[in-house]
Amino acid sequence: MKQDMIVILDLGSTENTVIAREIRALGVYSEIYPHDITVEELKKIPNVKGIIINGGENNIVDGERIDVLPEIYTAGYPMLAAEHEFAKCEETYTQWPAEEERQAILKAFVFDKCKAEANWNMKNFVEDQVELIRRQVGDKKVLLALSGGVDSSVVAALLIKAIGKQLVCVHVNHGLMRKGESESVIEVFKNQMDANLIYVDASERFLGKLEGVADPEEKRKIIGAEFIRVFEEEARKLEGIDFLAQGTIYPDIVESGTKTAKVVKSHHNVGGLPEDLQFSLVEPLYYLFKDEVRACGLELGLPHGMVFRQPFPGPGLGVRCLGAITRERLEAVRESDAILREEFANAGLDKTVWQYFTIVPDFKSVGVKDNARCFEYPVILRAVNTIDAMSASVEEVDWAVLKKITDRILKEVKNVNRVCMDISPKPCATIEWE
Ligand code: XMP
Repeated sequence: MKQDMIVILDLGSTENTVIAREIRALGVYSEIYPHDITVEELKKIPNVKGIIINGGENNIVDGERIDVLPEIYTAGYPMLAAEHEFAKCEETYTQWPAEEERQAILKAFVFDKCKAEANWNMKNFVEDQVELIRRQVGDKKVLLALSGGVDSSVVAALLIKAIGKQLVCVHVNHGLMRKGESESVIEVFKNQMDANLIYVDASERFLGKLEGVADPEEKRKIIGAEFIRVFEEEARKLEGIDFLAQGTIYPDIVESGTKTAKVVKSHHNVGGLPEDLQFSLVEPLYYLFKDEVRACGLELGLPHGMVFRQPFPGPGLGVRCLGAITRERLEAVRESDAILREEFANAGLDKTVWQYFTIVPDFKSVGVKDNARCFEYPVILRAVNTIDAMSASVEEVDWAVLKKITDRILKEVKNVNRVCMDISPKPCATIEWE
């Protein structure tokens, strides 16, 4: 292993991830471990240069004060009691130490006390992971559901580099992908990276199951269940697969709750596959934050557009073609979305706006085309910014850009005679309409 490591022991402080990120920003790798880790377990972690014990008001769990094992204090590692150091700082500044102040404390600890080397970078990360993956997998085969999203794409690129054709990627096109998206997965992974890629066009199957289903929750359930069924069928056709690769990333784990934090959502659910189809997991992005996943993707040579792809919901365009999905409205969503993306890119907005897309509702309005009355669907535009998707504000798009998008949609998209803009923040609205 190439990189030095600073271990953070988790006594329930919500600042743990912030500290891990700040240490990584100094170029030194850092991971968070449970508070009750033993010295024996600690010694198995490679290159540990120092330990940060970080608890806060949370280190009382079920009425009991929790601490690290006494043996940790005498194990000989340089130690920083973060809360204590930061609290000293607080006395002087009467508030939570400013970012620079905290960073100065961390910097002094990491470099002066622990003598850690700033050798955490994506090149070393990729080299280490390639070695670890090869060690874990040996000559066995690994299966990956490759959606084309950032995480699964980076996992695929990393595994291709490590084990080449021992990786079997399955890309399921549920017919609700954006324009050109499945094609780009095939182009990048099959044509350029020579991956072992199975492409399953299940569009008809999904659209058939969804026919006449108008309830949003019901639609989501059908899409999710059908996705697992298609993936399971493909997995059963393959022989000798021992591992399943997943794009689990650090925030997924941190949000799942540690021993000292409440479980927000469960993770490690192997895509809902049946009992007899359980595999061992390969999760090479397990310790990365989202921006590090993107940096890893760039290091592996993935195209910029794939690495910086805006978030796209699992049920895809299905939740943007409101009510019971019809082919003509789905086509209108897909084509208008492509125009919106193209014009946002032309205006440079693709680099700054968090998420932008179009919606087609299941009602019509009266219009006039070629001097005749028409009765067609509206297209709704949505462009939002957010940090964590829990709340969101609306991007104030330039009028000229909106006008260009509107003109193009009205001219190029069939069955559409009106364009509207959704300017509702979240809350009260959600980002998606269904
Ligand atoms: P809402 O509509 O809840 O969306 O404000 C918040 C963010 O989550 C995305 N989203 C999903 N992502 N599967 C996903 O992977 C889903 O079922 C799903 N539903 C919503 C949405 O696009 C937005 O970024």
